[in-house]
Amino acid sequence: MRWNTHLWSAMLSLSTLANADPTWPSQVDELEEIMYQVQGYRSRQFGGTVIPCSSEASGPGRHNAAEWLRAAFHDMATTTIFDGRAGGLDGSLQYELTSSDNIGPAFNTTLKFMADYYTSRSGVADLIALGVYYAVRSCGGPVVPYASGRVDATQAGPIGVPLPQNSAFTFQQQFTRMGFSQTEMIQVVACGHTIGGVHETEFPEIVPVGTTADGEATMDSTVDVFDNKIVTEYIAGNTTNPMVVGPSVKATRNSDFKVFNSDGNATMAALVDPQAFKDVCATVLRKMIEVVPDGVVLTDPVQPYAVKPVDMQLTLNPGASTMQLSGFIRVRTTDFGADSAESVLLTYKDRSGGDDCGSLGCTYTASVLGATQGFDDTFVWFPIDLQIPTSSGISSFTLTVNMASGASEAYDNNGNSYPMQDAIFMQQPQSCLLEGNLKVVAAVRNDLDLPVNLHLSYKTPVGDPNRPVPTLNDDTVEMTKGDCVGLYTFYTASYEDLGALDYATKIDVITGSGETASRDDFKAASGLGANCAAFNAPPASLCSRADDPDPPAETSSVPVTMTPTVTSPGTATSTAAVETPYHRETLGNYTLVGCNTEATATGVRALGGASYVYDGMTLESCMTNCTGFYYWGTEYGRECYCGNKVDASSTNVTLDECNIVCSGDETEYCGAGDRLELYVTTGPIPTPTGTLAIKPTVTPYLRIGCYEELPTRALTGGDFPNDAMTLELCASSCAGFTYFGTETLTATWFVPGTRPNTAVAATGSRCTD
Ligand SMILES: *[C@@H]1O[C@H](CO)[C@@H](O)[C@H](O)[C@H]1NC(C)=O
Ligand SMILES: *[C@@H]1O[C@H](CO)[C@@H](O)[C@H](O)[C@H]1NC(C)=O
Ligand SMILES: *[C@@H]1O[C@H](CO)[C@@H](O)[C@H](O)[C@H]1NC(C)=O
Ligand SMILES: *[C@@H]1O[C@H](CO)[C@@H](O)[C@H](O)[C@H]1NC(C)=O
Ligand SMILES: *[C@@H]1O[C@H](CO)[C@@H](O)[C@H](O)[C@H]1NC(C)=O
Ligand SMILES: *[C@@H]1O[C@H](CO)[C@@H](O)[C@H](O)[C@H]1NC(C)=O
Repeated sequence: MRWNTHLWSAMLSLSTLANADPTWPSQVDELEEIMYQVQGYRSRQFGGTVIPCSSEASGPGRHNAAEWLRAAFHDMATTTIFDGRAGGLDGSLQYELTSSDNIGPAFNTTLKFMADYYTSRSGVADLIALGVYYAVRSCGGPVVPYASGRVDATQAGPIGVPLPQNSAFTFQQQFTRMGFSQTEMIQVVACGHTIGGVHETEFPEIVPVGTTADGEATMDSTVDVFDNKIVTEYIAGNTTNPMVVGPSVKATRNSDFKVFNSDGNATMAALVDPQAFKDVCATVLRKMIEVVPDGVVLTDPVQPYAVKPVDMQLTLNPGASTMQLSGFIRVRTTDFGADSAESVLLTYKDRSGGDDCGSLGCTYTASVLGATQGFDDTFVWFPIDLQIPTSSGISSFTLTVNMASGASEAYDNNGNSYPMQDAIFMQQPQSCLLEGNLKVVAAVRNDLDLPVNLHLSYKTPVGDPNRPVPTLNDDTVEMTKGDCVGLYTFYTASYEDLGALDYATKIDVITGSGETASRDDFKAASGLGANCAAFNAPPASLCSRADDPDPPAETSSVPVTMTPTVTSPGTATSTAAVETPYHRETLGNYTLVGCNTEATATGVRALGGASYVYDGMTLESCMTNCTGFYYWGTEYGRECYCGNKVDASSTNVTLDECNIVCSGDETEYCGAGDRLELYVTTGPIPTPTGTLAIKPTVTPYLRIGCYEELPTRALTGGDFPNDAMTLELCASSCAGFTYFGTETLTATWFVPGTRPNTAVAATGSRCTD
C-alpha cells in the first residue's frame, strides 16, 4: 500500500506531536543510541552477549540474559524506604561482588561487559537498568520502559538481597523494605525467574552437584524464552523449578514456592494469561529499575528520535578557506509501512543566521547509506559531507526527510533548529593518539579571544580484581595558542605516556566559560589516527577575524557563479513509454518462489545471510549481490536479502501483495513493505553449511570487527595455521590472549572487559562488513 501524501503527513504530524523528539543535543543521546542501535549498520553491540536469548557467552549453562536481569535485582534489592528512600538501582553492585549476597561469577561478568559502555553520559546504574530492557526484549518479553538519570553510588551499600533459605515472612519484610507489595513481590520473582536457572556450584543444596548436564537446573521448560511457563507449570503442578520442587524442599530453600504460595497462589493464578504476564512484567520490572534514592530524578522513558543528527563534526579543509561538516542523520523508519525514506535535505544558516552560503548554496541532499535494527524499530542513515565557506560559517540547520512516495516531512528540532556552532571544534586530522600519547588540536575562531581548554574523560582500572568497573577520571588543561590559519587559530594540548589514554577516552574542547562557553564535546578518541597529519595552512597574511569589517580577499578563491545543485526528490521523472510491471518467473539460475512475509520472529529476517540497501536496485543486481546463496529476495523496491534458508516464521502470501516496483527498473516487482519477492536457485542445493553469518560471540571472546592486516602483523602473540580452521579452533589455540583473529580477512575478537586495545585499533583500519 502506498500512503496518500496528505494522510501520511497528517499522521506523521500527529505522532510527532504526541511523541516529540528530545531537543537535540540531549543528555540522553548516548544511552538512546546504545538502546536502539541494536543490530546492523553503526549498531552499538550492547546486546553482544545477550542476543540471542540463548547466548551462553560466558560458558555452558550461563545464560547471560538471565544474569543481566538478576544483576539489576541484586543492585536494587538492598534499598530501603524507611526514613526516605536510600540505595536502589545505583550501581553499588560494583563494590559488592565479594558480599555473601552476590555469590557466583554472574555479576562480575555483567559489570565487566558493561564497563566498556561506561562514560560520563552512560553511568553504571543506567547501564544495569538498560540491561533489563535488553535481556527481556532479547528473550521475547515485553518492552520495559527505560528512563535514564540514575546516579552511581561511590561505595558499597548494606547487604540484604533475599536468600533462598529465608522464610516467607522474611521475604515479605524484605520486599516491604524495598517498597514492593506482596503481590509485586510475587510478580517480580516470577518475571525475574522466567529465564535462566540455578547453578550447582553456588546452590548445591538446591541443585546437587553432578545432577545436571551443564551445571544448571532451569526454572521452567523454556529456559530461553521470556514467557509465563514459570507460572503455568507451577499452577499445573508439573513444574521442574528447583526452587519449588526437588532437594530445595527438604533444605527449606524452595524460595520460589514460599513466595508464590504466600497469597494462596492468587497472584500466580492471575498470571496464567500470557498477555497479563507480559503486561505485569513490563510494569513490575520498570518499577524495579526505577527504584532510586530520594533526590534522584529520572528522565521520561527514552524514546527513539524520529530524526537525529549523530557525530556531527566540523573540520577545516586544507587551505582553511572552507570547512567540512560531516556526520549522519539517522531516520527512524519503523512507522513508514510500505513507504521508505529516500533522501534527507539539510538546509543550514550561516554564522549570523542568514543565507550567505557561497556558491554551493545552503542545502545538501544526502542519500541512504545503511540500515539499523532495534528490537522494535528500524532506522536508516544518511551521511552528511558538506563543504561550507569558512568566511560565512554555520550556526544551525533544519532537515527534510523525503519519502519514496513523494511525501516529505520537515524537522526543526522542536522549533529551535539543530544548533551547530563553529566557534571551536576539534581539528581531527591534526589530532592523534598512539599508545598513551595524545595530541589534540582545536580550531578556534579568531574573534573569540578567550582561554581554550581541553577536557578529557578517561578510564583507569581500580586495581582490585573484584572491582571490574574502572574509575572515570577527568582532566582539564589549557590549550596553547598556535598558528593562525585564515579566520581560525589552532590551539594544541598534548599528553605523553599516559597509558590510560586509550580509545575509550572522550575529548571536549571548550572556549569561554559558563553560559557563553562554546564547546565541541564528547568526541571519541577512537576517531583519531595514530599520526597527526600536517595542515596545509594559508599564508599568514590571510589571518583575520570573522567580524573584521575589511577582511582580506581570501574568499574570492571560491567560485561564485555556479548555480547551486540541489536535487529535488519527489520530482516526477519523465519516461518515454512506461511498460507495465510484472513478476519475473525466472532470472538466471533462479526461479520465483512467490511473495513471502518478512520473518515475524524477533530479531531475525526471512533471509538472514546478507543484506544490501541501495537505490537503483533491480532483480538482476540483487541476484548478483547474492551470488552463492540458495535464496535471495527483494523488499520495498530497494532492499536485497540473501540466505541459504527461509526463516520458519516467514510465510507465503498472494503475489499481489508484492506490489512495489524495483527502484532501478519500473517494469519489475521488488516485493513491498515486509513482503519479499523471493527467488530460489534452480541449481544444486549447496552443502548444508548453514547460513554464512557473522558470529558475535565465540566464548569467551566477543567480535569487534574486521581489521586490515599489517606488513608486520596486527596480532603478534602466536600463529596457528590449520586447514580446518574454525573460529572455535582459533579461540582455543589463542586461549589466554586478549585478542584472536582469523585470516584472510582478520576478524578480531576480544575477551569481554579488555576492550579497547590501542595496538590493534590504532594501526588497523576497519573494513566494512
Ligand atoms: C504440565 O501440565 C500441563 C497441563 O496438564 C500440560 O499442558 C503441560 O504440557 C505440562 N508441561 C510439562 C512441561 O510437562
Ligand atoms: C499453590 O500451588 C502449588 C503448586 O501447584 C501447590 O503445591 C500449593 O498447594 C498451592 N497452594 C495453595 C494454597 O493452594
Ligand atoms: C572477578 O573476575 C576477576 C577476573 O576477571 C577475578 O580475578 C575476580 O576474582 C572475580 N571476582 C569475583 C568476586 O568473582
Ligand atoms: C547457471 O549455472 C550454470 C551451471 O552451474 C553456470 O554455468 C551458468 O553460468 C549459470 N548461469 C547464470 C546466469 O548464472
Ligand atoms: C550490489 O549491487 C549493486 C548494484 O550492482 C552494487 O553497486 C553493489 O556494489 C553490490 N554490492 C555488493 C556488496 O556486491
Ligand atoms: C506460494 O505462492 C505462490 C503464488 O501465490 C503459489 O504459486 C505457490 O504455490 C505458493 N507456494 C506454497 C508452497 O504455498
